[in-house]
Amino acid sequence: MDLLVIENLKVTFQTPPEQVRAVDGVTLELKQAETLALVGETGCGKSTIALSILRLLPENADVRGKIIYRNNDLLLLPEKELAQLRGKDISLVMQNPALALNPVYSIGHQMTEPLIVHRRLKKPKAIQTAKNLLEKLHFKGPSNAIRAYPFEMSGGMKQRVLIGISVVLSPKIIIADEPTKGLDDRLREMVLKELRLVREMNRSSMIFISHDLNAAREISDRIAVMYAGEILESAATQEFFKEPLHPYSQALLESLPERGFKPIPGVSPSMIQPPRGCKFHPRCPDKKEMCSKQRPDFKRTKNRDVKCVLYS
Ligand SMILES: Nc1ncnc2c1ncn2[C@@H]1O[C@H](COP(=O)(O)OP(=O)(O)O)[C@@H](O)[C@H]1O
Ligand SMILES: [Mg+2]
Repeated sequence: MDLLVIENLKVTFQTPPEQVRAVDGVTLELKQAETLALVGETGCGKSTIALSILRLLPENADVRGKIIYRNNDLLLLPEKELAQLRGKDISLVMQNPALALNPVYSIGHQMTEPLIVHRRLKKPKAIQTAKNLLEKLHFKGPSNAIRAYPFEMSGGMKQRVLIGISVVLSPKIIIADEPTKGLDDRLREMVLKELRLVREMNRSSMIFISHDLNAAREISDRIAVMYAGEILESAATQEFFKEPLHPYSQALLESLPERGFKPIPGVSPSMIQPPRGCKFHPRCPDKKEMCSKQRPDFKRTKNRDVKCVLYS
């Protein structure tokens, strides 16, 4: 069953005299208890999708399309009702833990506040709940973590605390935006393990956003590959890694260190004046004449969706 459906989402940032087409017609479904990885190079529009879902985009963003959750279009919901969903139904693990945590409050305060406000727990009960959660996340000495302030913690620790805070209300959907960015291997594994754990604890669905394909492979059931604001291929994760179909997906996999580190030729496309036709055609080894003229549609083939004339 689909828990969240994004239909033809278009986000344009107005930066006069220019317009940045950050998301250009994205359609996606997130199923119950599924982890969907959203991958693609920096600047392709991943965070913009995450922020659209929770309506946290800045004023200069023009957002069109539909984001359906429980029969409601989140883009049309009154702000008050949407505020009720944030954290409780849908929560975001932000890209930058240093910015996401409030420097003037202890971790305990930041973890217990949602419990006190939304669940109406008394303070001691809220603190106990927070400690139990940190314990489940394998924190050594949860009592110390509860008393600590963000400045007393390392980057990796902050990221882990942030995961704790974002699931304290047992959300149905966790959106994790680059949660492993900048972490060393050990911490990266730890964060992935914790995300898996919190997902299983609540049988939550997750949108895992990353430019790290290996992390996506480890954690997701399904993967969607983004390029310049569009999804070019979506597939079951295992099948995708066995046989990527879109030339961009293939190039992306070949650029991985373990597959030869072959960089993708050319440069990332402009988000202001994207190439005509298929946006990947200037860099595509398989391009045909029509690729520069016509934007391909999605085709369902081999049990996945691909936007490429090779499969039409
Ligand atoms: N507030 C903004 N104003 C103008 N452009 C923006 C803004 N936020 C993001 N962008 C642009 O939108 C595009 C997509 O950004 P983003 O969603 O952050 O990409 P990703 O998360 O995949 O790295 C980029 O070209 C970025 O520069
Ligand atoms: Mg981002």
